[in-house]
Amino acid sequence: MGEYISGFSKLSKTEKIEWLRRYTHSTPDFSVLDASGEKEQKIIEGLSENVIGRYALPYSIVPNFLINGRYYNVPMVTEESSVVAAAAAAAKFWAQRGGIKTEVLGNTKLGQIHFTWSGPRQVLETMWDELVQLFMEVTEELTANMRARGGGIKDISLKSFEDIAPEYYQILVGFDTKDSMGANFINSVLERIGEVFEDFIGSDPRLADWDLEVIMCILSNYAPDCRVRASVTCSLTEQQLPGCGQDDSMAFAKKFEKAIRIAEMDVYRATTHNKGIFNGVDAVVIATGNDFRAVEACGHAYAARDGQYRSLSRCRVTEDRFHFWLEIPLTVGTVGGLTKLHPLAKFSLELLGHPTAEELMQIIAAVGLMQNFAAVRSLVTTGIQHGHMKMHLTNIVNHLEASPQETERILDHFKDKKVSFTAVRNYLEQLRREKV
Ligand code: MEV
Repeated sequence: MGEYISGFSKLSKTEKIEWLRRYTHSTPDFSVLDASGEKEQKIIEGLSENVIGRYALPYSIVPNFLINGRYYNVPMVTEESSVVAAAAAAAKFWAQRGGIKTEVLGNTKLGQIHFTWSGPRQVLETMWDELVQLFMEVTEELTANMRARGGGIKDISLKSFEDIAPEYYQILVGFDTKDSMGANFINSVLERIGEVFEDFIGSDPRLADWDLEVIMCILSNYAPDCRVRASVTCSLTEQQLPGCGQDDSMAFAKKFEKAIRIAEMDVYRATTHNKGIFNGVDAVVIATGNDFRAVEACGHAYAARDGQYRSLSRCRVTEDRFHFWLEIPLTVGTVGGLTKLHPLAKFSLELLGHPTAEELMQIIAAVGLMQNFAAVRSLVTTGIQHGHMKMHLTNIVNHLEASPQETERILDHFKDKKVSFTAVRNYLEQLRREKV
């Protein structure tokens, strides 16, 4: 399955595309990478209001992601210089140590009907089974397609919040939306249930003394039970860590573990730490046409699930082993929404071999884990600026409008030197003076 490639980053753009063309099992239409055609323009313009153009971000490929024994070429959309290089380095590093293991821990998405009820809770509870049956019946038409695909409504429960706000309740509905993100499906079902609930209670003469008001029906972007785990592990005596020119694996592992513990305990560090994870997560979520705001909101809420915001990843070093893992809720789809419509989202899914939503959750979690490994490895060894500024050098060179010849000299000069904007500008000025 898949194919390992060495030196992908060194290929020219044409060579990279040529390689993808030869080695992908699917046959994506590579011309969409340019997306300059009239058809693509029309699609983009149809996605939003007041479109006056297209906002381009770099679209990159990270090869050699070994996940559960299979190699993936992962598409990433990000503007941050060092993100792709870091993910690629970490993925390569762990591919040589058995790769990344992933597992879906659940796929339940949630929706809520928020309502107030002035009567006794027991009245609703007594009627609950009858109501659930009614809700299932009246949504049959809406859920038919999803049920045919093996999904649909998983459960419907009544939640009382009278201790927080008088008369406040919820109907909590669990969904399996199979390979779709399912937002429209969930909201349509919820609105139907809300409507029928209000009518049913309002028309029962036995309940005439009390009031029911449905306040709103909407999916919850918090989906802690739609969650995935990605992990890596290796022996500290047999395999070298960290691979940053240092060779004391145990010392590195212990320091790395301390860094993760700090992000577990301290909200300031946890926020930056998790931002690093989302550098990778968002890049794939965007590349595959999924909703990164939903994924971010859910991930951060989950990070604060016990009342304190903490790191999403964990590390443990036992006698001889290094264990590093990430658990993250991810609500993504591989059918519907932008996935078919947006040429690059479609292309990304083809490149990943048409994954199911659960497979995509695992790929995204694996990328998040690698991004986090790369960042923390740099932090506890060389420092983050070392790699970051090297990647940022190209931005500085472009900003200073260096010619191709000057760029070559600059890249060569800064191979073994500290990069800063001022240092590059000074060197460029020196080059130009020498020429005069
Ligand atoms: C930068 O975009 C992300 C990092 O700050 C993450 C981290 O500190 O773990 C490098």
